[in-house]
Amino acid sequence: MHHRADALWFHRARPDTFGMRAAPRFAMDFHVITLFPEMFESPFGGGMIGRAIEQGIIVLHVHALRPYGLGKYRQVDDAPYGGGSGMVMRPEPLAAAIDAVAEEHPGVWKVLMTPQGEVFDQAIAREFSARPGAILLIAGRYEGIDERVRAMVDQEISIGDYVLSGGELAAMVVIEATGRLLAGVLGNPESLKEESFGERTLEYPHYTRPEEFRGMRVPEVLLSGDHGKIRAWREAEARRRTARRRPDLLERRKF
Ligand code: ADE
Repeated sequence: MHHRADALWFHRARPDTFGMRAAPRFAMDFHVITLFPEMFESPFGGGMIGRAIEQGIIVLHVHALRPYGLGKYRQVDDAPYGGGSGMVMRPEPLAAAIDAVAEEHPGVWKVLMTPQGEVFDQAIAREFSARPGAILLIAGRYEGIDERVRAMVDQEISIGDYVLSGGELAAMVVIEATGRLLAGVLGNPESLKEESFGERTLEYPHYTRPEEFRGMRVPEVLLSGDHGKIRAWREAEARRRTARRRPDLLERRKF
């Protein structure tokens, strides 16, 4: 799926690659440990990330946890010491899976997906995308993971204050947000620069054709062709929108 605009952009940016996409100079390895490897198939089968995987910019290794389970039934969980409902993931299968990945990729950054972790945001996505080595995301089930597994990881990440039944979707969110920041994943890197969180504000309102839709007109300034005025309007709108909807972003200034 090559879009003409992309090819042209590459032509201008890198004359040596006219007519085809640049061979990636950089590839990032993501590993995932999960009881449900098939969950990763369709979300990454299309879109930007699917294309980046096809192009080898993102290399996704999904490791099934089940084969590391114990005994004939490849058991991965057990009843909690001290009693209570639900099961807890045993440490040995997770440890064995983590060790196997670490052996393949020494120095891999090990991240446990858990609602108790640091809350994922654009700053962490950027940090991850700049990491030189591979990233391992460990998806557990929410009910519980044996506490001793925490000693085996470098970081714990939550994608927000809500509870998923497993860390799989959370791992996908991290891969998506991190992966799109890698060089060559987005068709036009300018769009990254303009992006809301990079600017510490929400995005300004966007319009395309038609000029009038169900009685709503495109703001006159956008049709004026006056680029200075357009920029000023967009900045003002972004600030206004952020102040109204997400004042916490203006206070934090953390991104
Ligand atoms: N596992 C279950 N809920 C989660 C969350 N909110 N973030 C990361 N991992 C999770």
